[in-house]
Formats: sequence, structure tokens, C-alpha cells
Amino acid sequence: MNKMNKSNIVLIGFMGSGKSTIGKALAQRLNYSFIDSDVLIEDRIKMPISDYFKRYGEEKFRILEEEIISQIALTSEAVIATGGGVVKNPNNISNLKNNGTIFYLKGSPEHIFENVKYDTTRPLLNTGNKLETIKSLLKERSPLYESASDMIIDIDHKSIEEIVVSILDCMRGKVI
Ligand code: S3P
Repeated sequence: MNKMNKSNIVLIGFMGSGKSTIGKALAQRLNYSFIDSDVLIEDRIKMPISDYFKRYGEEKFRILEEEIISQIALTSEAVIATGGGVVKNPNNISNLKNNGTIFYLKGSPEHIFENVKYDTTRPLLNTGNKLETIKSLLKERSPLYESASDMIIDIDHKSIEEIVVSILDCMRGKVI
């Protein structure tokens, strides 16, 4: 089967790269359903992820994330927005790849910083120096995002609409 014929479109990338916003717009365009793994996790734990991190820690969150991802991965014809740390667990990626094409929304630290500079809902970025945290976490995670992805979409200096069009062009096999 051609990779692009796989049923789901999976968006991965760093916090603040626009996975949810772009995913919703893309799903609408394709007439696919839209699934946001963080929203499903929050539905399950009945509290914001930031509270869960504080109470139970990242390790417990990752266990929950793996369970939710394994369920989501069974869907079809969905655009799936994942949490930025989904690539830390190879099981997540193999589950998502079973029935999905993975797009990495690749942004520079500066671009990401602009999107999250006033945000307080992401526990891993609530540090003294957000830009430096983004730089070091991104350095650590970039190889994971790149190796997990089927396609890489550069998002710097692009509008949501332009990013959606880039993904659609990729799906149609056009060079972008
Ligand atoms: C995380 C990203 C968050 C959320 C959690 C952990 C991460 O999702 O899953 O706070 O490790 O990068 P977003 O990428 O949607 O912010």
C-alpha cells in the first residue's frame, strides 16, 4: 500500500507548533474526523494536563498517553494531533504508523517561542527561561521527530492555511 493511502493523518511536533489548529483545519478540508490526544487524556483524567503533571508526574502521564494513543491508532479517516512528547515512546510511533502517515510540523525554537510565550498550560515549559528550554528540549527531540515522520513540513513564516496546503500537496504527491 502506498504510504499516502494509509488512512489517518498524524501530526507530530513540538509544543506550540500548531498541531491542533492545523489538524482541525485539515480535517475539515478532508472531511475526516479530528482527534486530539491531549483532549482525550484530559477527558479521561478530568483535570488539565498541567495539574496531572503536578500531582502524579510525567512518568504516569506517559503511561496514560501510551494507552490513549494505542486506542486512537485503531481509528480510520482521522486527523490526529498528538502531544509533543509522543515520540519519546517508540510504541506510540509504531501504533500510529500502522494506519497512519506521520507529518512532522517542524518549527525553529524562535517560531515556537512566539506561539507559546504567554502560555502557562504546558508544564514542561514553565521554567525560568522558556526560549532556552525550548532550544534544549528541541535539540533532544529533533532526531526523534525526524525519524518518526514520513514527511516533514517546515512551518516557519507560514500561515495555517499555507501549512494545510503544504500537507495536502504532500498527500497528493506534489513536491513542496
Ligand atoms: C508535552 C506536550 C503537551 C502535552 C504535555 C507534554 C510534551 O502537548 O502532551 O504537556 O512533552 O511535549 P502539546 O504538544 O499539544 O502542547
